Amino acid sequence: MKIVSADFVKSSPRADMCPESSEPEFAFIGRSNVGKSSLINMLTERKNLAMTSSKPGKTMLINHFIINGKWYLVDLPGYGFASRGKRDRNKFIQLINHYVLDRMQMTLLFVLLDIRLEPQPIDLDFINMLGENGVPFALVFTKADKLSKEKQGKMVKKYLDTLCAQWEELPPHFVTSSTSKQGRDDILNYIQDVIASLQSDTTNQ
Ligand code: GTP
Ligand code: MG
Repeated sequence: MKIVSADFVKSSPRADMCPESSEPEFAFIGRSNVGKSSLINMLTERKNLAMTSSKPGKTMLINHFIINGKWYLVDLPGYGFASRGKRDRNKFIQLINHYVLDRMQMTLLFVLLDIRLEPQPIDLDFINMLGENGVPFALVFTKADKLSKEKQGKMVKKYLDTLCAQWEELPPHFVTSSTSKQGRDDILNYIQDVIASLQSDTTNQ
């Protein structure tokens, strides 16, 4: 899929304050600093569309970007940012859960995982919550440029084996790097397929 336009629409402090629109939304979630905002910039080839930082906790609101005037990429705040106070942490968990579970337009959630890390309880708990609630999601391994191809394969296999122990069906997964653009075409083609399947669903009704 070709990205012709990518424009910031709105930052929302709550899920019920997100843009009024019925177009499909593809959202990015994961721990703070995993590379959500960087991935949005990489996919859209816009350097500063989503704000990034080497310090965790940069994205604090739900950010909507409209792509080709037709569908949205949504940048979410990270979960599990330890230096936030407990009250703040709970606020973010609520905001994320409301968006993920209640937003009708939320078509697919990309769950980002740092490819260098062993499976972490906080991510596994979140993935299990998605599975239990029937939320459509895909896994995105980030920062692949930090590992050799061989090591990338090993880490991904370990993750999928861990999920296999609990789930019969595995979600789609992508291996990406925001610096080398690895995985860009795969993710964009996948989004295109999902949008096409939504359109054929409505024509079949
Ligand atoms: P929060 O908004 O705090 O939740 O973080 P985020 O998940 O949006 O992370 P962000 O995109 O701001 O990136 C965090 C840091 O990781 C930045 O210093 C990025 O430059 C770096 N980073 C992100 N993706 C990659 C990648 O694919 N490769 C490398 N080498 N660095 C990356
Ligand atoms: Mg961010």
